[in-house]
Amino acid sequence: MTGRIPQHFIDDLMQRADIVEIIGARIPLKKAGRDYKACCPFHGEKTPSFTVSPAKGFYHCFGCGAHGTALGFLMEYDRLDFVTAVEELAARLGVEVPREASLQQGPELGPLYAVLGRAADFFEKSLRQHPVAVDYLRGRGLDGETARAFRIGYAPPAWDSLLKELGDGAEGHQPLLAAGLIIAREGGSGHYDRFRDRIMFPIRDSRGRVAGFGGRVLGAGEPKYLNSPETAVFHKGQELYGLYEARQANRQLARLLVVEGYMDAVSLAQHGIRNVVATLGTSTTGEHLRRLFRVVPEVAFCFDGDRAGRAAAWRALQATLPELREGRQVRFLFLPEGEDPDSLVRREGAEAFGVRISGATTLSDYLLDELRRQAGADSLDGRARLAELARPLLDLLPAGVYRELLSDRLAQEVGLPRERLSIALGGTSPREVQPSPPSRPPAPPRRDGRASLVGQAIALVLAHPRIAAGVDCPPGLATARVKGAALLAELLQIVRGQPELNTGALLERFRDRPEGQHLSALLAMPNPVGEAGAQAEIAGSLGRILALDREERLATLVARAATGSMTPEEKAEFRQLQREQSGRN
Ligand code: CTP
Ligand code: MN
Repeated sequence: MTGRIPQHFIDDLMQRADIVEIIGARIPLKKAGRDYKACCPFHGEKTPSFTVSPAKGFYHCFGCGAHGTALGFLMEYDRLDFVTAVEELAARLGVEVPREASLQQGPELGPLYAVLGRAADFFEKSLRQHPVAVDYLRGRGLDGETARAFRIGYAPPAWDSLLKELGDGAEGHQPLLAAGLIIAREGGSGHYDRFRDRIMFPIRDSRGRVAGFGGRVLGAGEPKYLNSPETAVFHKGQELYGLYEARQANRQLARLLVVEGYMDAVSLAQHGIRNVVATLGTSTTGEHLRRLFRVVPEVAFCFDGDRAGRAAAWRALQATLPELREGRQVRFLFLPEGEDPDSLVRREGAEAFGVRISGATTLSDYLLDELRRQAGADSLDGRARLAELARPLLDLLPAGVYRELLSDRLAQEVGLPRERLSIALGGTSPREVQPSPPSRPPAPPRRDGRASLVGQAIALVLAHPRIAAGVDCPPGLATARVKGAALLAELLQIVRGQPELNTGALLERFRDRPEGQHLSALLAMPNPVGEAGAQAEIAGSLGRILALDREERLATLVARAATGSMTPEEKAEFRQLQREQSGRN
């Protein structure tokens, strides 16, 4: 749907991201020399072995080996996917994430939004011309002001009202088709309007552009609601009806109420409750939650009190758990059976409805209530079952305060101290109960070994990219037969081309490559060489690597000579290598 995030943007983000601020906002950091220390959030420990280096833009735990950049930390700790982590970092710095133009994306969305906007205009105008539609809305308690705020309209009954209005000429059909507003007749001759004789609810994106429509029949009739099909700009499972309108109506939003229906959102607004969004009759998704939490710290879900409503609430809870962080709150409001928010607010008024929202069940209460119910938690058996049931749910939570709190509550419930609970759960999650690793740091690389010679040079380039940019990459390094030499050559090429890249940016370049893990591990090893000695050390390593390469090749050739199987080319190569070797000595 959207293009790739350009490399230069990630580079830039890694330059500007303040890793200490990002990690420090999530766990308490203590200054220790040029670095910062903390108890590792990824495994249980009492003495801090988690180190953050602002100079390198890199964190590392000597205990469990966890390591990475600011971006990597957000992904691990907040459990974000790559794109969301990039968006979060970018948002912190107040910049938009650019996208590379891709085939599916680009200027052709303009006409789509344009035709959707014109269709909304047309439906609004039609509403004023059709008293039957106005009467229907009045009958449901809506006034003109609310209808205007939501741009509610009406699609006339004819098969071609919108077509006539917007689709003149052959090329006029294309955007209407792409927007899902008209349908091609079977057999291929002509088109007809998708929405006829329906109240039209335009669904607007965060910028207020119309992305799609929901259309309701005036009375009885099937289907009750007809929605725009999936288009390039409309994805039913991600949209939140009323989000734009809620933001327009409130300068500062603290909480959003999530309901299921268009009419619920509109009717609550009519009663002065203007912080409401509706999912379009679909389950709540992680994408919904992320969009909501970008706007407010607190979300309240509203569900019917019946079985279907309870099932939907449980699904919403599962979608919510991975998105919970410190400072985010979620509540669940269950309505009396047979009511929806629209009917209830009309029956008991806005104030009573507001009281219900404020008194809604907190997520942890709901979670425990539900688990207790599922487990039958009175008996000892039931409590064990409860712990069982809770385990996969706790695993969905990102590491942090919330997870701790819920684990504590659960432990209380089951009647075990939390540490014992983790053990009882048999290794809830790799984070929580990793077998405690040996406390000594990994052995430093062997200075004589071939791999460690290259490894050390790589670590130095990573740790001091600006210095490494001043080192010439000798010809022959990229093709040297020493393990890792090609990677070292590649790194040197990168830093020479872009000396401004920092450690984090370099590491991010290798995120999707198998070498990436290797690079981070090398960087995480203690490196005795400081910035001052780095350039000489790297240059020296390069010389030794090339010498090793020659020795190795000579040894191979000597072995071949011994068996008398050298080709003339190999003989020439052998003499050349011998000359180089003696030239150096
Ligand atoms: N929905 C849909 N298609 C349907 C029925 C419902 O897309 N055939 C979606 C709509 O977004 C609708 C929501 O599911 O708003 C909730 O459905 P429902 O409770 O039936 O509708 P209400 O919003 O209560 O509508 P009304 O009060 O107008 O009957
Ligand atoms: Mn309803």
